[in-house]
Amino acid sequence: MRKKIVAGNWKMNVDLSESIDLIESIKKIYDHNPDVEVCIAPSFPFLKQSSELCQGEKIKVLAQNVNDNLKGAFTGEVSIDMLKSINVDGVIIGHSERREYYKEDDDLLFRKLNISLENDFKVYFCIGESLEDRDKNNHFEKVKNQLEKTVFKINNLYPENLVIAYEPIWAIGTGLTASPEQAQEIHKYIRNLLSERYGKNIADNTSIIYGGSVKPNSAREIFEKEDVDGGLIGGASLSPQDFIDIVRSI
Ligand code: PGA
Repeated sequence: MRKKIVAGNWKMNVDLSESIDLIESIKKIYDHNPDVEVCIAPSFPFLKQSSELCQGEKIKVLAQNVNDNLKGAFTGEVSIDMLKSINVDGVIIGHSERREYYKEDDDLLFRKLNISLENDFKVYFCIGESLEDRDKNNHFEKVKNQLEKTVFKINNLYPENLVIAYEPIWAIGTGLTASPEQAQEIHKYIRNLLSERYGKNIADNTSIIYGGSVKPNSAREIFEKEDVDGGLIGGASLSPQDFIDIVRSI
C-alpha cells in the first residue's frame, strides 16, 4: 500500500532559532498518526539539529537539495553521504524554483535522482507545468516529458524510495490552488504513465503528492481524491498550526 505523506518545505525562510521554534511547536501539537508520513525540509545549516530534535518523534527530515556527485572538489556543495551522516532521511529534487532560478535542467535532475536512488537515499521528485502550458492545454505533455527525461530513465524503481510531487508552477506561492478535480486528473495520468513504464504494482505503490498553495481549508478536498497521496507544503508549513491541520486533514 502506498504511503500518505505531508512534507513541509521551509525554503529559505527561517533561521536557527525560528527552525527550532517551529519544530518544538509542531512536536507539541502533533499527535502521531502511523498512517501519515510527516516530513520537514529545513535549510542545510539546521539539518543536524533538526534531525536530532525530530529523533523518536516520527518526523522525517529532508534536505532541499543535494549534489550529483558523491565527493570531491565541488565548492559550496553538499553530498548524499554528508546528509546521511546527520540522519537526514531524503531530499527534494526538481523543485520548480531550482529549475527556474538555478537553471537545473532535466539532465542534471536525472543525475541527482539517479545517484540518490543508487545510494538508497529517498527522493521527493517534483514535476509540474507552467501557467502557459496549462493555458495551452499542454500540461499532460509537459509532465510526461519531464518524467521521460528523469524518473523513467531509472530501470529499477522501488516505490519506497521515490515520491512524486506534482506541483503546477502557477499554484506555487500564488494562492491559486489546483481544484481537487484538476489534481486528481493529472495524478491519475501520472499513475497511468508509471503503470505503463513499470507495471501496475509499482504504480499503485508509488506515492504522488500535490503541492501548490495547499492551506488547511483546501487540503481535505484535495487529499480525498483517489490518486492524491498527500501534499508538499510551502507557505503554510511555516505555521505549526496550519501545518498540523493539513496533516490532520488526511
Ligand atoms: P506553497 O509552496 O505551498 O507556498 O505554494 C509549495 C512548494 O513550493 O512546495
